[in-house]
Amino acid sequence: MLEGKTIVAGVTGGIAAYKAADLASRLRKQGADLHVIMTRSATEFIQPLTFREITGNPVIVSMWDEPKRWSVQHIGLARKADLFVIVPATANVLGKISHGIADDMLTTTVMATTAPVLFVPAMNSAMYLNPIVQDNIKRLKAYGYLFMEPVAGPLACGESGIGRLPEPADIAEYIGQCLAEDQTLAGKKFLITAAGTQEPIDPVRYIGNRASGKMGYALAEAAKNKGASVVLVSGPTHLAPPAGVELIAVNTAGEMRDAVMSRFPELDVVIKTAAVADYRPKVTTEQKIKKAAGELVLTLEKTPDILRELGQQKQHQILVGFAAETENLLEHGRDKLYRKNLDMLVVNDVTAAGAGFATDTNIVNIMFPDGTVEEWPIMTKKRVAEKILGKIIELMQKKS
Ligand SMILES: Cc1cc2nc3c(=O)[nH]c(=O)nc-3n(C[C@H](O)[C@H](O)[C@H](O)COP(=O)(O)O)c2cc1C
Repeated sequence: MLEGKTIVAGVTGGIAAYKAADLASRLRKQGADLHVIMTRSATEFIQPLTFREITGNPVIVSMWDEPKRWSVQHIGLARKADLFVIVPATANVLGKISHGIADDMLTTTVMATTAPVLFVPAMNSAMYLNPIVQDNIKRLKAYGYLFMEPVAGPLACGESGIGRLPEPADIAEYIGQCLAEDQTLAGKKFLITAAGTQEPIDPVRYIGNRASGKMGYALAEAAKNKGASVVLVSGPTHLAPPAGVELIAVNTAGEMRDAVMSRFPELDVVIKTAAVADYRPKVTTEQKIKKAAGELVLTLEKTPDILRELGQQKQHQILVGFAAETENLLEHGRDKLYRKNLDMLVVNDVTAAGAGFATDTNIVNIMFPDGTVEEWPIMTKKRVAEKILGKIIELMQKKS
């Protein structure tokens, strides 16, 4: 429930603006004191009157409307807010706020607030995937702004793809989580590995894999939000690290091993989502290998098995592994779980639609040493991350 919470909702000029009315109604029903600020464009899609009736509060569009107390009004709302949510967030508003532009009531109030600000972008896929928009999102994340990612599906423009506003019920749930101040993991030290490693062949080539880092980054953010101190050991990725997380950037399996092992004694939980190369070139040439007649044979050697080493040295720590499989999921999973002395293993079939690398969703099975297996349905990686943390918290409670 949201009693006693003040939420300021910014509604911008996207086709999904009408869904903000459904969200507003849900937030009000949960007891939030809700104030809506609309951009001028948003009023082309939905009337301020709708929000005024739902919230019981005046809706602000212009800084210059009567009463002419805008400075008091925008600072007042900025201070009052426990949470700001911008829904839907247009490409335009993301661009403006990420570059410090404050030329209307909404952007000015966002600039003046110290409350957490949650963006829920919605737009056509091509707009959303435009590198300028993605860069602006990265900039905002780096400043600590929160995001609820759009979902894939049919879009208003007739196309299908990423960019749809999540369902208002899901946004309301997410807002509830943001305001819940759940600090269950306060004082706990997490280390999470993410993305894939790159093993150099010569100065310009490497052996890599398709891991994007999304699952690990989602876990790091979720653990941070629950109060944990989080070290994220990451292979190369385009993702921005979540605010407040310590990032150790590495390239190779060897570097990842050293970073993880040096921190291991002080940790409470290690989650290894990284796709670490199993093999690396035995020799890395100093000069670029030139094209020549005939075949080129590379000799590969095994990389350090980080998870196994962690399993052998484990004392009080909880060790969670990930397995990306393409066949015999549970059989291979069970083998890995025991061989590496894990407390929990998350297995996914990377060939399944909606699972695996670079997608925003995942389909996983969770396996425990007592033989229990849980099959989870398709979910966003953020949701999977939250549920995995729930399981880890249960394991921690059992151990203590
Ligand atoms: C019919 C229509 C639908 C639009 N839908 C979206 C949308 O879903 N997402 C978006 O980012 N922009 C959308 N736009 C473009 C924005 O309305 C435009 O960039 C505007 O300047 C946004 O202003 P604001 O960010 O101040 O609200 C749409 C425009 C039109 C005419």
